[in-house]
Amino acid sequence: MRDFLSHFICRVFCLVWEALPTVNFQDIEQGEQLFRKVEALSDDFPLMVTEYWSGWFDHWGTEHHTQSLQDFGSTLTAILNRSASVNFYMFHGGTNFGFMSGANWDFKEITLKTDVTSYDYDALLTEAGDITEKYRIARQLIYEATKERNRPEIPYDTPKEDWGAVSIKQYMPLETILTLTKKFSENGTIPMEMLDLHSVDGVDFGGQRYGYILYQVNITEGHNLTFTEFPRDRIEVFVDGNSVAILEGMVDNVNVNISRGRHTDTQPKGRVLDILVENRGRVNYGIMGTTILDEQLKGLNNNCFLDGEPLTDVEIYPLEFDDDFYKRLSGNHEWEVYSGQTDLPGFYRGRLFIGYTPLDSYLSMKDWTKGFVYVNGHNVGRYWNKGPQQTLFVPGPYLRQGFNEIIIFEQHKSNNSVKFQETYILDALQVDVGHA
Ligand SMILES: *[C@@H]1O[C@H](CO)[C@@H](O)[C@H](O)[C@H]1NC(C)=O
Ligand SMILES: *[C@@H]1O[C@H](CO)[C@@H](O)[C@H](O)[C@H]1NC(C)=O
Ligand SMILES: *[C@@H]1O[C@H](CO)[C@@H](O)[C@H](O)[C@H]1NC(C)=O
Ligand SMILES: *[C@@H]1O[C@H](CO)[C@@H](O)[C@H](O)[C@H]1NC(C)=O
Ligand SMILES: *[C@@H]1O[C@H](CO)[C@@H](O)[C@H](O)[C@H]1NC(C)=O
Ligand SMILES: *[C@@H]1O[C@H](CO)[C@@H](O)[C@H](O)[C@H]1NC(C)=O
Repeated sequence: MRDFLSHFICRVFCLVWEALPTVNFQDIEQGEQLFRKVEALSDDFPLMVTEYWSGWFDHWGTEHHTQSLQDFGSTLTAILNRSASVNFYMFHGGTNFGFMSGANWDFKEITLKTDVTSYDYDALLTEAGDITEKYRIARQLIYEATKERNRPEIPYDTPKEDWGAVSIKQYMPLETILTLTKKFSENGTIPMEMLDLHSVDGVDFGGQRYGYILYQVNITEGHNLTFTEFPRDRIEVFVDGNSVAILEGMVDNVNVNISRGRHTDTQPKGRVLDILVENRGRVNYGIMGTTILDEQLKGLNNNCFLDGEPLTDVEIYPLEFDDDFYKRLSGNHEWEVYSGQTDLPGFYRGRLFIGYTPLDSYLSMKDWTKGFVYVNGHNVGRYWNKGPQQTLFVPGPYLRQGFNEIIIFEQHKSNNSVKFQETYILDALQVDVGHA
């Protein structure tokens, strides 16, 4: 029945709107079934694979995806043998720079799975645009299937440079960072998108889109902090500047005892409660992605209670970390001398001198924990020691001859240096990490 219905709908759609039915797949057995469906609709339809999945993308904390050369070649051979047209998804995956990486909603595990920064995809070209064995295989198979054409020249790989270690010289703690952004006083905890952040001459260009958001409340009493709906997306709770909890995963009704380990009742002085929430990326396809964006608001949404009472009188700091923020950050005079690791969120700065035209490189973040990196003001993306991605691609044009500024936003444990290297690591899953 379902088959009949989809067949019928497709038939009407294809004939009335003159659309061509095409198919997407990775595995040829599934591909053959789909080809047969198209052929059943009409003999006139040419076969076309709109997305031949030459690999797959990765989520933080899960295995790196690859497709074997054997499977890649045999599937492509079969597609060509069908005289089908083929579009590779991906031919060149590239990079989700900045906060551009998306997410998927996992119904089985009831959790948000967020995409890593690299979109290398195990595609025909690497993240840096270099050729792979898949490229060579595809080149040969396409040549054999279309004998009259010449084989394209194999392009050369771009050289990479190991720029070595950059020492961290300066540090900026969260309290200084908060002076570089707007502040909203609200009588509740509202999501980032609802802040009047981008108004120009009374015209509303929307609220905060990306980054982090911090909610700050002065409290005098209370132990039991409750989040009634799932955190969006990752929350760290601080009391008087000390981290007391990290919440992650989509669970409702989480309780945090913010007085744990203190003799609160004998110390009735005021405390500052900070709740830092990270937008880890929005769902970009599938259920939740295709529904309304309103279901993907980030931050808190009046869903935070202290001993059963909603948080009121809240100061909200949108940490969008956009280009304007970067200018204020880079030019700020409050940077402190780096004096070793802290366990608190902050920016860390170092400088790299390059004497000639810079080449592409990879920044190894494996000695750091979680955050994102600016290279000369370009946000080169998020990192997380969970893996599987451990290096960030830094294109040569993002670097310059002379001094280069590297600024790292680290949420947990920093290191005294960060290293550029010639090779990438996209498949090193770290299972035993402190902040999982
Ligand atoms: C190509 O298709 C023909 C039938 O059209 C089949 O006999 C042959 O085995 C196929 N070759 C490959 C390599 O799949
Ligand atoms: C703030 O919200 C609380 C709880 O909803 C309410 O009792 C209080 O009157 C509000 N304060 C202001 C200034 O609106
Ligand atoms: C908390 O108290 C401090 C000091 O009195 C004040 O500057 C700040 O604005 C207060 N914050 C909130 C969120 O009310
Ligand atoms: C939270 O911790 C404090 C201090 O250790 C303790 O007195 C209190 O009973 C705890 N509250 C809850 C709700 O567990
Ligand atoms: C904390 O508060 C929530 C909601 O108000 C309640 O369901 C929960 O039992 C409380 N937890 C503790 C340990 O008191
Ligand atoms: C930094 O990373 C190196 C290499 O993994 C390690 O030896 C060192 O202890 C780390 N910590 C700090 C604070 O630099």
